[in-house]
Amino acid sequence: MLPYFRPYLNEEEVDAAAETIRSGWLCMGPKVIEFEKAFGKYVGCRHAVAVSSCTAALHLSLIAQGVGPGDEVITTPYTFVSTVNVIEHVGAKPVFADIDYETFNIDPEAVRKKVTKKTKAIIPVHFAGQSCAMDGISEIAEDKGVAVIEDAAHAAGTKYKGRRVGSQSHLACFSFYVNKNITTAEGGMITTDNAKLAERLGELRLQGMSRDAWKRYSAKNKWRYDVAEPGWKYNLTDLQASIGLVQLKRIEQVARKRAAIADRYNEAFEGIDGLKTPSEAEPGHCWHLYPLRVRGMARDRFVEKLSEENVGTGVHFIPVHLFSYYRKKYGFSEGRFPIAEKAFGEEVSLPLYAGLSKGDVEYVVGAVRKIMR
Ligand SMILES: Cc1ncc(COP(=O)(O)O)c(C=O)c1O
Repeated sequence: MLPYFRPYLNEEEVDAAAETIRSGWLCMGPKVIEFEKAFGKYVGCRHAVAVSSCTAALHLSLIAQGVGPGDEVITTPYTFVSTVNVIEHVGAKPVFADIDYETFNIDPEAVRKKVTKKTKAIIPVHFAGQSCAMDGISEIAEDKGVAVIEDAAHAAGTKYKGRRVGSQSHLACFSFYVNKNITTAEGGMITTDNAKLAERLGELRLQGMSRDAWKRYSAKNKWRYDVAEPGWKYNLTDLQASIGLVQLKRIEQVARKRAAIADRYNEAFEGIDGLKTPSEAEPGHCWHLYPLRVRGMARDRFVEKLSEENVGTGVHFIPVHLFSYYRKKYGFSEGRFPIAEKAFGEEVSLPLYAGLSKGDVEYVVGAVRKIMR
């Protein structure tokens, strides 16, 4: 079975992890600091705060923005459930705005219609590695005085108007989960240009302590720390960061390989009746996913047929308003966000990762063509 994702790791990561193990310092310390600096430099922002996942990054970002009970947060229903779960975790209300059919991304016009006096933040999600229309979203945020927290789980390396995602916003949250373009097995990063926010996020990720273990044990007589507010246990570890540093060196090479595979899929499927290849609104896609749309047959049947051909696939995403918790709590039902539901009915993510050989890609192309014939 050809899986739809596989992490791209080699002996360099093994050596880096072994070196950290031998150093005797495995938890958050010098490697995390090095990874934060390197990632911040790559993205083009002043501060980067490493955390245990993108979910943790989103959760802490909402807290740092002061979002809480009585507030509303506008986001897309077309995302992984964690984007919305964290809004629930801080006691705020998720308000969905439908997507643009072509890009799968939240539609700024739909966002504008959902803004109320209670709106405190907007969370756009850069689906599959393609940036949202950030000009439109930033304009609304500035007009209405609300924060933008980017869910950049798919967008390490993505550019918008020539600049990397994470370099032009208040807060952006990245994922290094194992299927992402770069991975630390589990992990995440928050980027910001705001020094105060970065400092607070740095404390919130580790119990609210003013001095983490590395700072306490490495500086003379600096063991004392304060806790100004109760934080979480959301830190990254040096073991993970040492893998992340190697992965980050390879991020552009990985992006080129992914783009070449996406180009080949586009070329192979463009003329096939019943399929729709992904639209690129503008250059800068980092191709985390290849979201093909199946319109000539039921998507589920297509997934089954590909599985019979030993090709693994993913489906991104079940719109969040259709999950039972959200249906029950907010009274959502089918038909409420028709564009997201239509996209969900058609989407299938084909295998896309840097370790996919040319032969593998041609095998997938052949299998898709066979099914559509
Ligand atoms: C759009 C989106 N947001 C957030 C997340 C959460 O990322 P993590 O698994 O690092 O918490 C994911 C995970 O895949 C995702 O796809």
